Amino acid sequence: MDQRSLPTILRIFLLVWVCQEVQPANILMVGFVGKGSHFLCLLPIGRSLVSQGHNVSLLTSDEYMERANDPELRKLFNFEIYKNTDPRYNTKKYFHLLEELGFSENGDLISFFKTMTSFNEIISKTCQFVLEDKEMMKRFEKLDAIVTDMGWPCGGLIKLHLKKYSNNSRVRLIWTTPTTPNVAMLDISGSPANPAYQPAIMSSYTSNMTFIERTINTLSTYGLRLFMKMASYSFSTFAEGVGLGDELATIDNMLTDITDLVLASFDFAVEFPFPKSPGLIPVGGLTAGPPNDLPQELEDFIQSSGDDGIVVFTLGTYFANFATSRPHLLKMFIDALAKIPQKVIMQLKVMPEYDLPPNIKALPWLPQNDLLGHPKTRLFMYHGGNNGFYEAVYHGVPIIVLPFFGDQLDTAARITSRGMGLQLDKLTLSVDLIHHHLTEVLGDERYSLAAKRLSAILRDRPMNPADRAAFWIQHVIKHGGEYMRSPAHDLSFIQYNLIDVYAFIASVLALFLFLVYKIMRCCVSCCMRKKVGTKDKSD
Ligand SMILES: *[C@@H]1O[C@H](CO)[C@@H](O)[C@H](O)[C@H]1NC(C)=O
Ligand SMILES: *[C@@H]1O[C@H](CO)[C@@H](O)[C@H](O)[C@H]1NC(C)=O
Ligand SMILES: *[C@@H]1O[C@H](CO)[C@@H](O)[C@H](O)[C@H]1NC(C)=O
Repeated sequence: MDQRSLPTILRIFLLVWVCQEVQPANILMVGFVGKGSHFLCLLPIGRSLVSQGHNVSLLTSDEYMERANDPELRKLFNFEIYKNTDPRYNTKKYFHLLEELGFSENGDLISFFKTMTSFNEIISKTCQFVLEDKEMMKRFEKLDAIVTDMGWPCGGLIKLHLKKYSNNSRVRLIWTTPTTPNVAMLDISGSPANPAYQPAIMSSYTSNMTFIERTINTLSTYGLRLFMKMASYSFSTFAEGVGLGDELATIDNMLTDITDLVLASFDFAVEFPFPKSPGLIPVGGLTAGPPNDLPQELEDFIQSSGDDGIVVFTLGTYFANFATSRPHLLKMFIDALAKIPQKVIMQLKVMPEYDLPPNIKALPWLPQNDLLGHPKTRLFMYHGGNNGFYEAVYHGVPIIVLPFFGDQLDTAARITSRGMGLQLDKLTLSVDLIHHHLTEVLGDERYSLAAKRLSAILRDRPMNPADRAAFWIQHVIKHGGEYMRSPAHDLSFIQYNLIDVYAFIASVLALFLFLVYKIMRCCVSCCMRKKVGTKDKSD
């Protein structure tokens, strides 16, 4: 029936009825401590929830007061700020450590794990700051859902704390992760994580692996699981310390038992296909969307590029101050970029002492999505963060990627294997190499066509990722996530991998073959004896 043909009074009645269906909920969102991509990913989901009438609170550390002081955010959200009172657990210092690791020549798995171990301490400590804030925990009593970054498992403890001390057992727990698919996300959601085709995080593999790569991939997958077990063990020791020990059924499934939903930043438009459980929802591209107008000065600079267009260059928030930390690296990029006909907009926190070439404009912060959505943007050169990747795919812009560590290597594998760009290696950088890659991607239409094709797939979805995430959060607030819980969680390693069944079938088969062998041997020897017997008689 055409809606417009309904009498006005009936339409108003329908509207009121539909509105009443939505019960305003109290939702707490934790995007890590307030820093970087983990936080930015949550804002679009929060905006969508607020627009549907919900009360959304953002939990941040007092080290990131600039978030709570942002007038646009304050209008929408309620801020819950905990105090980081111990300078030894300074999270800003930790992110600086991470930056150093990214630039170091051996930013490998071992140093990554070392940093992660010190990170575990930070997580436990920040969790203590929150749980010990009695007034804040009192305000959380009325919560309906906690949406928390997977890197901050304390969200799970807040849920357990509310259940034990505040008689609130209805609060739902939703995990988010801004990285490419990883074994933690697959395991928590109960999805199969098969190393035969599922590249481990930080492996830089695609789903098409050689024998050696599959071997390494299998070892990495189990290595990461072991690391997670250790992290979860140290975290449950902490949970016992704050009086929540009896709430943890067992250490192993501490997180899986209380999880209602997992929202992960991927989309099969660019992600290698894999089977997933119903409680794992892909919401890749949260920060991507139609561009806003740029400031006039920036717009004028872009328009002055003519038909050549512009290149957008950033190495992310962590590396934006590399003018001071790695001046020779910056010089290399500037020399290469000076040689191309395009204009360049780059992110730099501190300007170098020398003058920039006339075709380069540097800014301390870039409106990245708006720049990538500009019709004159021809190329995006960056470090391989997941948010930036989906923004470039959304706008169909080809990429040159310079990954430093972590899942940036995996993003690079997706970019190159999908044919939408080229990769630079941080250890073999030179002006010529950078210039060669620039002219190759800018000069060959294939990269841009591949990006446009992926863009069309990513956009061809019934809901944008923020609304999809908001829909699913409201869905589990109403119905819980228990009905989607994967049966894999209830199986042991032996049961899940069918090792007992294969062992049983193999032993039955072995027994059968053994019997056949015995019978045949018996028959043969009987025949022989008979033959010998008849021979004897004839003798
Ligand atoms: C919103 O949620 C917070 C919990 O963090 C609560 O303190 C506040 O009273 C709620 N606001 C409304 C209007 O319900
Ligand atoms: C806890 O909540 C339930 C209903 O949700 C209620 O029946 C019970 O009285 C509450 N207990 C306390 C101690 O508040
Ligand atoms: C996988 O890679 C190999 C070697 O690079 C190639 O020959 C093969 O066609 C690829 N398989 C698929 C399914 O892409």
